Amino acid sequence: MRNSFFTIILLFALSINAQERVIIELNKGWKFEKGKNENAFENNFNDSKWESVTVPHDWAIYGPFDKEIDKQVTAIVQNGEKSATEKTGRTGALPYIGEAWYRNQFSVPNLDKSKKVILLFEGAMSEPKVFLNGKKVGEWNYGYNYFYFDITNLINENGKNNLAVHLSNLESSSRWYPGAGLYRKVKVIVKNKESIDQWGTFITTPIVTAELAKVNIKTTVTGENLQIKTVIKDASGKEVAINETALIFGKEFEQNIAVRNPHLWSPESPYLYTAVTQIYVGNMLKDVSNTRFGIREIKYEANKGFSLNGKVRKFKGVCLHHDLGPIGTAINKAALRRQLTILKDMGCDAIRSSHNMPSLEQLELCDEMGFMFLAESFDEWAKPKVENGYHRFFDTDVEKDLVNLIHATRNHPCIVMWSSGNEVPDQWGAEGVKRAKRLQDIFHREDPTRPVTVGMDQVKATMESGFGALLDIPGLNYRLPLYEEAFKKFPQGFILGSETASTVSSRGIYKFPVVKGPNKQYPDFQCSSYDLEYCSWSNVPDDDFVLQDDKPWVIGEFVWTGFDYLGEPTPYDEKWPSRSSYFGINDLAGLPKDRFYLYRSRWKTNDKTLHILPHWNWEGREGETTPVFVYTNYNSAELFVNGKSMGIQKKNNTTPQNRYRLMWMDVKYEPGTLKVVALDNQGKPVAEKEIHTAEKPYEIKLEADRNTLEANGEDIAFVTVSVVDKKGNPCPTATNQLQFAVSGNGTFRAACNGDATSLEQFHLPTMKLFSGKLVALVQSTATSGKIELTVTGKGLKKGKINLKSN
Ligand code: GAL
Repeated sequence: MRNSFFTIILLFALSINAQERVIIELNKGWKFEKGKNENAFENNFNDSKWESVTVPHDWAIYGPFDKEIDKQVTAIVQNGEKSATEKTGRTGALPYIGEAWYRNQFSVPNLDKSKKVILLFEGAMSEPKVFLNGKKVGEWNYGYNYFYFDITNLINENGKNNLAVHLSNLESSSRWYPGAGLYRKVKVIVKNKESIDQWGTFITTPIVTAELAKVNIKTTVTGENLQIKTVIKDASGKEVAINETALIFGKEFEQNIAVRNPHLWSPESPYLYTAVTQIYVGNMLKDVSNTRFGIREIKYEANKGFSLNGKVRKFKGVCLHHDLGPIGTAINKAALRRQLTILKDMGCDAIRSSHNMPSLEQLELCDEMGFMFLAESFDEWAKPKVENGYHRFFDTDVEKDLVNLIHATRNHPCIVMWSSGNEVPDQWGAEGVKRAKRLQDIFHREDPTRPVTVGMDQVKATMESGFGALLDIPGLNYRLPLYEEAFKKFPQGFILGSETASTVSSRGIYKFPVVKGPNKQYPDFQCSSYDLEYCSWSNVPDDDFVLQDDKPWVIGEFVWTGFDYLGEPTPYDEKWPSRSSYFGINDLAGLPKDRFYLYRSRWKTNDKTLHILPHWNWEGREGETTPVFVYTNYNSAELFVNGKSMGIQKKNNTTPQNRYRLMWMDVKYEPGTLKVVALDNQGKPVAEKEIHTAEKPYEIKLEADRNTLEANGEDIAFVTVSVVDKKGNPCPTATNQLQFAVSGNGTFRAACNGDATSLEQFHLPTMKLFSGKLVALVQSTATSGKIELTVTGKGLKKGKINLKSN
C-alpha cells in the first residue's frame, strides 16, 4: 500500500490545532518508467512492474556515460568559435534525454468541502505535464522553476488519488548537465478555503537601525471577513512583537511591525526571526503560516558600492550549477550543507545560482549559514544558445516564470540581488534592450527591494545599445580589460564581476614546464594545478584580485565555479572521455584543489592559510626544475628542500602572481621533505608546513565530514578515502581500484574521485582513486543505529569507519 509511506508534516503542531494546514510530502512510493507510455496518466493504469523510486530523483545520474548522448555538433559562439565541431560530454554524457513517467498515490485525511488543496512542485526536469485521477491538471515548461496547481476540484475526498507526471527532455536543450526527473520535492498542501494564498506572504525591512526595525508584511488571502494576527518570534522562539488588523485592501493585508533592538542578519551573524501569521474569521482560526526572515539593510550606491547593514563590503562569491556531483541533481540537504561548509571554510560569503532558479533548500541553508545570494533565472531569453533551450518558451512563459521565482523566494534574507539572465545573445539588438527592461520591470514590480543584474559578456555592444545602462547593476562576465571603460560609460557608478576567473585545473595534477597561458591541452585530458591555465575569454584568479583590490567601484566577484559540475568539459569540449568541468575551485567530489587555498588566503580573514604545491612525488623528475608555489596570507616565507634553503620569497607588485602567491620557480626536484616557513614582517618564523615524498601505498584511510547522521533515509556522510604509505604519508599519485561495503543502518549511495575523464558509474561500489583520493557517500536509512563503511583494495590494508544515525 503505497499511501502508507507519506511523510505528513503537521505544521505548528505545538501551538495550534493541526487541522489548519497539513503538508504531505510525496517522497516515497513513486513508480517510474522511461519511455512514451501513452496511457500512463490513466487512473487504472498498471504500474506494478515499474521501478520503485523515491523523490527527489534523477533518472540519468546512474549512467552509463556514453559519448553519443547529446553529442552537440555546434560552434559555441559565446566562446568565440566560428565553425561547428563535435562536442561530446557537453551535457555530461549521461542519459537525460527522452520521456518518462512518475506515478504515485496519495490520500488526504479529513478532507471536506471547506478545504483547498494545492499540489506543489519545487522543480521537475523538464516540461512536466501533471495528471490527477486521469485528468490533466496542467503543465509547466521550465524545468528549474517552482510551480503549483489548485487541485481542489479534482481530488477524491475519501480515498486514493492517482498522480501521474510526464516529463520530457530534448537533446541540445542545455549547455551543462540538466539532470532528469522529479529532482526536487513534490508536496500536497491542504488548508481551509479561507487562508493565505500560496507564496502570499511578503516580508521586507524598509527601515533598519540599531534601535528599531520596521518590518513590513504584506499578506494576500482568500476569503471574506478575515482578520490577521502576526507574531514575530526571535531565534529562540520568544515573541518580540505582535500585530493584528482587520483592515484589508482588496486581497491584501499590510502590517508594519516594530522590532526593537533588532539582531541584524549578515553572513557573519545569520540571525533569523520567524513571523507566525494567523488568519481568523471572527474567533475561528482558519490558517497559520510560519515565515522565516532576516532583518538587514542592503544598499548599492554610486562611488560607494554595496553595503550590508551600513558596512561597505565586496562579494566574495562563487557561481554554482545545480548538480551535486555523484548524486546528480536530486536535491539533498546534506550535500548542499557540505558544499556550503567547504565554501565557508574558504571565506566565501556569496553564491550565484548560475544560470537558473536555486532550490529552496539551498536558500534555507544560505539564510541559516550566512551566505548572500544572487538568484539567477535564465541562460537564454528569446535568442537561442542551444537549439532546444529556453528561447522556445520565452514569449509565453517568461512573465510567469519570473513571478514564481520572486514569490517563492523573496522572503529569504540571503537574496540580495536578482539576475534576469546570463550572457543572453539578446545583448545584441534593440529588441534585447526592451527585453532587459521588461524583465527588470517585472522584478521591480514584484519586489521593489532588490536590484537586478545581467551577466554580460558582450560589454561593448551593451555600452552602445543602452542595455548595460538600464540595469540596476552592470554585471561583467570576464572582460577585465573593459572594467574601466564600463565604469566610465555606465551610469550606475559601480561594476560587479558577475562571473570571474574560469581558471581550469585538475586536482593533484601538475604539468611542466610551468607557463601561464590559455587553452592548454595535454594527452591525458587534465589541466595543471599550478593555476595558470584559463580559456580564451577568461583569466587566472590573480587578475581578478587586482581589480577587486585596486578599484573601489568594483563591488565583488562570483568565481566560475565553486565546485566542478557535470558537463562543459572545457578545454576538452571536443575530447572524449572528458565529461565534467575543470573550472571548480573544488573538484566534482568536493575535494579542494590548490586554488581553494589561493582564495582562502585572501577571503578567510579570520584564519591563516599556508599551503604548498605541487605534491612531492616526482619519480623520474630528479634534478629537473619543479617550481613550488605557496598560497598564504603571510607576506613572505622561506622554502627548504631536505633542509636546504631555496631562499625567501616576498609578495610584491611586479606581476599579479607575485602579488598574491609566493613562488620558487627554480627548485630542482629531489625526493624527501619540502618545508615552508612563513615569516612575519620582521622576518621572524611564525608558522610552518611540510610535505614528504611518499613511498608505495600501504593503508586506506577514511575520514567522514560527519559521524552522526539523521536516521531519515536521506542524510549523507561524505567520507574522504585516501591511501598512505607505511609511515602515514599521503600517496598523492595513487590510482588504486577500491571497493566499498556498507553494513548496519546505512547504504552505499555513490562515490566520486573528481577525475573529469572517469567513466566509472557513481552508484557502483567500486572506483579508482584519482590523485590519491576519492569520496564515498554513505546514506542513512530510516532506522537509527550503527553504520560501518569498509573500503578495500588489492594489496592495501583495509579502511573502516564507524558512523551512527539517530
Ligand atoms: C561563461 C558562461 C558559463 C560558462 C563559463 C565557462 O561565459 O556564463 O556558463 O560557460 O563561461 O568559462
